[in-house]
Amino acid sequence: MPTITIPNLEGIHESAREFIAQMGDHTIFAFYGKMGSGKTTFIKALCEELGVDDVITSPTFAIVNEYRSSTTAELIYHFDFYRIKKIEEVYDMGYEDYFYSGSLCLIEWPELIEELLPDDAVRVNITENADGSRQLSVILPSSSE
Ligand SMILES: Nc1ncnc2c1ncn2[C@@H]1O[C@H](COP(=O)(O)OP(=O)(O)O)[C@@H](O)[C@H]1O
Ligand SMILES: [Mg+2]
Repeated sequence: MPTITIPNLEGIHESAREFIAQMGDHTIFAFYGKMGSGKTTFIKALCEELGVDDVITSPTFAIVNEYRSSTTAELIYHFDFYRIKKIEEVYDMGYEDYFYSGSLCLIEWPELIEELLPDDAVRVNITENADGSRQLSVILPSSSE
């Protein structure tokens, strides 16, 4: 998958469609990037383009939010691991039931649960450019290269 540029907020849905066109059969997407780099904003645009009508915000307190696409009726899980203090919290929330469900999982702060990420996770690095645009670089799992 090549690099995708998000020029500004006006262009984010087009970038999300570009991303979706290249998602293939992958279901686990880990979004790396500094605080404020645009992870939540991009995941929100992605979910909207996938047909989620709910309000999409980062699941800061619940760890995971569940959405359903009104176009495909598929579930989408949005994780934010920023506030976890111990990996036990992630075991306790039953992460495997989500990661191995076959449903799309969009993950913020995956570095905090790196050892639990499935081998076939797609890693997405988000960086902010000097002009405020964002760069998404996508690293496919080695099994699909
Ligand atoms: N592609 C973008 N272009 C311009 N501004 C953006 C973009 N993505 C995010 N932002 C802005 O950056 C701020 C932080 O975004 P957010 O998605 O909350 O970051 P993160 O989840 O990585 O901490 C928000 O004010 C948001 O509006
Ligand atoms: Mg966020």
